[in-house]
Amino acid sequence: MGRRETIKALEVIGLSEVYLKTKIEKETDKAGLLKKLFESFKDCSKCSLYRSRRQVVFGDGNPYSPVAFVGEAPGEEEDVQGKPFVGRAGKYLNRKLEEILNMKREQVYITNVCKCRPPANRKPTSVEIATCLPYLRQELQIIKPKVICCLGSTAAEGILGKKLSITRLRGQLFSYPYDQKIKVFFTYHPAYILRNPRSEAEFVEDLEKLKELIGQS
Ligand code: URA
Repeated sequence: MGRRETIKALEVIGLSEVYLKTKIEKETDKAGLLKKLFESFKDCSKCSLYRSRRQVVFGDGNPYSPVAFVGEAPGEEEDVQGKPFVGRAGKYLNRKLEEILNMKREQVYITNVCKCRPPANRKPTSVEIATCLPYLRQELQIIKPKVICCLGSTAAEGILGKKLSITRLRGQLFSYPYDQKIKVFFTYHPAYILRNPRSEAEFVEDLEKLKELIGQS
């Protein structure tokens, strides 16, 4: 029986609203799907990062956000708290989101390419990135944002599958290779801006462009 016939049949016994509500909730329960995904890999030991991490750090925020920010990997504070971007770079990012996008952190979705902290916050290796990528891809397929915003070169490498200079990529818009309906935008990593404040104007310019792309007034 098709959806229409099912609704008709249920209407006869006064149950169509219940059916539709259940169906809609099932189709859009992104939080539930993310929880299931996280449960499936929270004990991951596929690369050596599991030996030194405190915990796997999964994405955080609004799963219905038009934009998903993707960073590199958790740092010390993230490893302790189990949430991405809660350290210095995260606080700076939060400020810029409010100032430029008029969005609070809770309104957007934030995640990382690598879900475990590399020792001494070193850059994740290409092998570590590739090992963790299936999790990020599944996460993004659940969120289906309008725009994926890559923060820095590691995120760009993870999303595009090749190493490209973030200075060249910044401000540009690509299609996400795994879902052409999703666009990919690039800017600097907030930690880079904290180390190189002279690039802040470019970062602000990129976020203004992102604001237009996601139609945020
Ligand atoms: N840098 C990242 O790339 N991700 C975090 O979660 C924190 C800092």
